Amino acid sequence: MHHFQYRDGRLYAEEVSVTALAEEYGTPLYLYSAATFRRHFKAFDSAFDGIEHLTCFSVKANSNLAVLRLLGEMGAGMDIVSGGELYRALKAGVPAGRIVYSGVGKRPSEIREALEAGILMFNVESVAELHKINEVAGSMGKTAKISFRINPDVDPQTHPYISTGMKKNKFGLDIDHSLEAYELAAGMEHIDPVGMDCHIGSQLTSLDPFLEALDKLLVFYGRLKDMGLNITYLDLGGGLGIPYDSEEPPHPSEFGQALRKRLEGVPLKLILEPGRVVAGNSGVLITEVVYTKSNPSKNFLIVDAGMNDLIRPSLYGSYHKIEEVEHHGRSASLYDVVGPICESGDFLARDRELPEVQAGERLAVYSAGAYGFVMSSNYNSRPRACELLVDGDKVTVARKRETYEDLVENEC
Ligand code: LLP
Repeated sequence: MHHFQYRDGRLYAEEVSVTALAEEYGTPLYLYSAATFRRHFKAFDSAFDGIEHLTCFSVKANSNLAVLRLLGEMGAGMDIVSGGELYRALKAGVPAGRIVYSGVGKRPSEIREALEAGILMFNVESVAELHKINEVAGSMGKTAKISFRINPDVDPQTHPYISTGMKKNKFGLDIDHSLEAYELAAGMEHIDPVGMDCHIGSQLTSLDPFLEALDKLLVFYGRLKDMGLNITYLDLGGGLGIPYDSEEPPHPSEFGQALRKRLEGVPLKLILEPGRVVAGNSGVLITEVVYTKSNPSKNFLIVDAGMNDLIRPSLYGSYHKIEEVEHHGRSASLYDVVGPICESGDFLARDRELPEVQAGERLAVYSAGAYGFVMSSNYNSRPRACELLVDGDKVTVARKRETYEDLVENEC
């Protein structure tokens, strides 16, 4: 459930008319609903009530400071993958003790920044990285708390680009060789192995792969205990899917219930790293139709949002629901909704049935709150869109629209 609803055929973001916002702030425009963010975070986090846990929002899904602040104030921790994300999380007021750091290519400078801040733990993805963390921590006279990201070789049954927990993927350590890595870590002076971690993929629409991975990790946990290691944390990553179209992913409460069953009596603190399930349906992208055009085989709606604004359809062939911001009750036709970028792959939808929209009218592209603005670029020298956070009848500019000057600011 989200708080983008129609009243008398006009779209509202919470209490605010989307047409009014588009007129004031222009398009393309990212709109986030604070009430939806709160609702989704709470639904997810409370699903694990009764299990000691920390929900670390995956910053990569939506890293706007206003969003991070809102979630941080609700008690969220953060899952980061770069020094930049660490900077954002701290700037948004999230305590370092609630931050976990994943990613295959952490640079020494980033490791240092995270140690200086005092993050909860590093999710280490290779033995080479372990050596580097030990070295950096040693040079600072510190001890780094780590978990290994274990690759459980589970097929998450999702798009290959966002599947991460199989042997062929670059992520984590192969489960069959992870024990040796823990042995090595346990002997290092500046490393404290405190956890186990995995993240098998994104937009999962079934619980089975999560449970298969969890079962493998629990067996592995037994082996670590036998080794005399004192493991405190179990980080299961993110990945729970959302409905973009007709998908029916499990509700977080079902996820929580299934984990509760498996983890009963297991003395581990659970960490979760949801991104999409919290942010995805908390945001929409508003775009204006610039021109309409038809040829013998296609009707096109040429809109002012391109693949530089929302790349998911071009990159993954992803479906995003599209609807008029104001319903006019016209009959429907099949359209390709395309952007202004000079690439045939620049589209938001193909062969989509939509009412006959006219130039100057606006469309709402749904489920754009996760991996939307964060993946945008300046390709074709297009200034990036404005982001607004709506909370009831209050509107905050979460990020100003970029200007032409911004485009060249760092060029010499
Ligand atoms: N934890 C780790 C270590 C991750 O790599 C990710 C996502 C998450 C948590 C959050 O996963 P989520 O709950 O959002 O599924 N750009 C793609 C998604 C890439 C996901 C990358 N990792 C998309 O637009 O679908």
